[in-house]
Amino acid sequence: MLVFVPPHPLIKHWVSVLRNEQTPCPIFRNAMAELGRILVYEASRDWLPTVVGEIQTPMDVASVEFIDPREPVAVVPILRAGLALAEHAPSILPATKTYHLGISRDEETLQPTVYLNKLPEKFPEGSRVFVVDPMLATGGTVVAALNLIKERGPENNQIKVISAVAAPPALQKLSEKFPGLHVYTGIIDPTVNDKGFIIPGLGDAGDRSFG
Ligand code: PRP
Repeated sequence: MLVFVPPHPLIKHWVSVLRNEQTPCPIFRNAMAELGRILVYEASRDWLPTVVGEIQTPMDVASVEFIDPREPVAVVPILRAGLALAEHAPSILPATKTYHLGISRDEETLQPTVYLNKLPEKFPEGSRVFVVDPMLATGGTVVAALNLIKERGPENNQIKVISAVAAPPALQKLSEKFPGLHVYTGIIDPTVNDKGFIIPGLGDAGDRSFG
């Protein structure tokens, strides 16, 4: 498994806005969306297939290269907080389908429960899938999501996970269970406390995004 923390000043900026406990809800949500925009952009570098051809400009014929619209690309936001991080993904990727997954973590046991599953029965052959969840803490949620996605076709190397903050327990689980997976995150934090919160983290991303 590969974990990328793209070295970009805007990523540092938006992570810092998210970390600040004084950041109010609408600004928090906007920062999450901006962070997601950059992470999806970075994760799609060298990953989206293109098609080449020639086109007539107003002046001459030019060689051109477009994203191949025949190659399926999917975005899977994990509700709730993933909605904010995935907000710009469908507009920066030329052709995508969005499939929502609602997963909540029990506050006591930290076990995930799937309460909404809008995944297709089978992903189209060759799909590339962005799984978007701001927090990778104990890893239970993202592992549950990846299991559901993999049952529907995609292999590990067809999936990229996008997160704002990742912690070692989640990264450890992902590398054991999904070799070949790529994770793009704004930052890696050192620990998860016994209530399942990433430390120092940014608090409860769902509550801070949606009040
Ligand atoms: C949070 C967070 C992740 C999950 C991470 O969601 O947004 O989805 O917990 O925890 P884990 O790695 O320990 O499983 P939560 O269950 O609070 O739902 P919400 O997004 O609706 O607030």
